[in-house]
Amino acid sequence: MSDPIPAVQARSLSKHYGEGNTYVLALKEATFQIAPGEVVALLGPSGSGKSTLLTILGLINPPDTGWLQVGGVDVIRDGAAVGDANLIRRRNLGFVFQRSNLIPFLTAEENVRLVLELDDVPRREAVHRTREILESLGVADRASHLPMQLSGGQQQRVAIARALVHEPSLLLADEPTASLDKELGRRVMELLRTAAIERGAAVLIVTHDHRALDLVDRTFEIEDGVLDTEGAKVHGATL
Ligand SMILES: Nc1ncnc2c1ncn2[C@@H]1O[C@H](COP(=O)(O)OP(=O)(O)OP(=O)(O)O)[C@@H](O)[C@H]1O
Ligand SMILES: [Mg+2]
Repeated sequence: MSDPIPAVQARSLSKHYGEGNTYVLALKEATFQIAPGEVVALLGPSGSGKSTLLTILGLINPPDTGWLQVGGVDVIRDGAAVGDANLIRRRNLGFVFQRSNLIPFLTAEENVRLVLELDDVPRREAVHRTREILESLGVADRASHLPMQLSGGQQQRVAIARALVHEPSLLLADEPTASLDKELGRRVMELLRTAAIERGAAVLIVTHDHRALDLVDRTFEIEDGVLDTEGAKVHGATL
């Protein structure tokens, strides 16, 4: 049997910011692929290009050049967006960033359920799946709260529920456990891993939490915009 189609395949993605003496080449010819169900940690110092790479993969921030396929479909060709980026984001991608970015005037439950409703999931099923994922993240008792009525950690858990509820093919997470305590942070990483395996999603997760690195399959390391995909394999090992 041939290999499964990669969940994400990137070739020569580059990105700069600024001009003249503010010019920064934040990503230099990044090339890699991630299989469905694979969990990859992206490691690198502050300012190395981690968020830049995640926002390019999330079709939020266009690269200067490069090619990108998600689920075998071209989404960036020679630096230009191909197809309906909004639709691809909604159907195939999930995001958790350092800040939760919840919609401030919707409750926790509505923030999560909205993702399913935008995808025409029947109301009864949407309510059920939303409740289930809020429960697994330990925030079901805050379902009716607005984001501003939640702690930072609770907001982040709701954001994680929102990123997983529609079973994306690629989950992009930028330090999702940074605002959570140790035990919960690990539980969240386990949930990300479970989601990847059960739903065939690829996960790319920026994390500085080395306690959770035994839960990932591979590590990518980035420095000054240069991506090294041959990072030390961390299963059972200490870095
Ligand atoms: N909008 C922007 N305008 C100009 N420069 C930017 C912009 N965003 C990022 N940069 C620069 O690009 C480089 C990569 O930034 P990026 O945010 O990707 O780093 P990071 O690895 O996510 O860092 P951190 O761990 O601190 O979040 C840095 O030198 C940063 O100063
Ligand atoms: Mg960052």
